[in-house]
Amino acid sequence: MSIRQERLTRETESGSGPLHKALEWNKLTKAPTVGIIGGGQLAQMLYQSAISLGIEAHLFASVTDEAAPKYFHDITRASSEAWTPPEIYHFAQKCDVVTFDHELVSPSIVRELEKRGCLMLPSSSTLELSANKANQRQRLNQLGYNLPPYQICNTVSEVVSFAERYGWPIVIKPSTGGYDGRGVYIVDKEEEIASLFSNLNAHLPFVVEPHLDLDAEGSVLAVRSTTGECVTYPMVRTLQVDGMCREVTSPGDFPQEMVAEARQIAEKLANELEVVGILAVEFFISAGKLLVNELAPRPHNTGHLTIEANTTSQFENHLRAVLGLPLGSTELRVPAAAMVNLISNSNSQNVMPHLPLALSIKEASLHLYSKSPRKNRKIGHVTATAESVDEALELARQTVHHLSGLEIVEP
Ligand SMILES: Nc1ncnc2c1ncn2[C@@H]1O[C@H](COP(=O)(O)OP(=O)(O)OP(=O)(O)O)[C@@H](O)[C@H]1O
Ligand SMILES: [Mg+2]
Repeated sequence: MSIRQERLTRETESGSGPLHKALEWNKLTKAPTVGIIGGGQLAQMLYQSAISLGIEAHLFASVTDEAAPKYFHDITRASSEAWTPPEIYHFAQKCDVVTFDHELVSPSIVRELEKRGCLMLPSSSTLELSANKANQRQRLNQLGYNLPPYQICNTVSEVVSFAERYGWPIVIKPSTGGYDGRGVYIVDKEEEIASLFSNLNAHLPFVVEPHLDLDAEGSVLAVRSTTGECVTYPMVRTLQVDGMCREVTSPGDFPQEMVAEARQIAEKLANELEVVGILAVEFFISAGKLLVNELAPRPHNTGHLTIEANTTSQFENHLRAVLGLPLGSTELRVPAAAMVNLISNSNSQNVMPHLPLALSIKEASLHLYSKSPRKNRKIGHVTATAESVDEALELARQTVHHLSGLEIVEP
């Protein structure tokens, strides 16, 4: 029985009223249990922070998850890819709070568990917003944030008239099912649209945007606790190739006013949307202006370098937030840092023979995800710290280069 369940029983027996939303630390007799749904690299890195905090972690992993299940002691394996509410409920009951490795869990299942008294963070309403790009855009628009020009389209003719208004190429993003650039379609001509509608009609409506000339891309992580405490991390610069995040540098080296504005936006969004945990806010910088591209309510690839570069990592702060603990400092503790993703270049890549050479770079830290290699799959990342961003980037690239045994490709 979890602490939460014990308290529920106690409170119900004593008639002391409804459960509090957050854990009551002064009454805990043993370490609380955080449940993590999804067994990817984020679960793996959350687990590393849970160990440091002395928190118990219990994993709900799908049948195909590979990274985290290797390390967790307490695992519930889903019986199939189609998760059922009873199966997740059985898992959630054993946890004081449940959080997520990804946002692919159906918000309706999460809502059902909330109704049954489970503390799910982020909540079903936050997940609803992140799981659907069209809903997210509309909500951000209602709240008055600067966004890329867009239209929510349900028909080919709506897309065509948008393209005629803004010019080709356009970018089509189905509402659901996309990640790492899968689900971002750059379309040059009218003839390509019909096939997208027939292949992706399960993911309608589409968010349609002009293909913007971007000066740069950046990201700010906000972290908000169940107590309402909210802090932001310094803005980082991100580099995407084919829609996938490749490199992140910190500090992002943006004008001070832009950084202040981006951090303000991220904090305001976390408060307005009542997010608990990390909220990653991805920004486009176009014609010198900040535009909110999208949100992700979980630890984020653009925050991996916080493990080495910031006083408190995004993973530890995410756990602190969902557990109602004071948040740690988000400030940089090194002059500069860079993260480079290790992306599999084949279906049979083996990095192990290259570890000794890669680790000869003393300033670099390696994170491997224990995933079987598949072409273009993120299988790890490297963070390097140094006196300058250029130096850190060079060291991280060099390490990834050694690991993959390939020439560095300047992105
Ligand atoms: N309208 C646009 N104009 C120019 N580039 C774009 C546009 N939309 C997306 N991109 C490029 O594609 C990348 C991925 O887009 P987006 O963040 O919308 O999709 P995603 O697949 O959900 O991303 P991820 O899950 O990796 O964060 C962006 O970071 C950007 O580099
Ligand atoms: Mg994105």
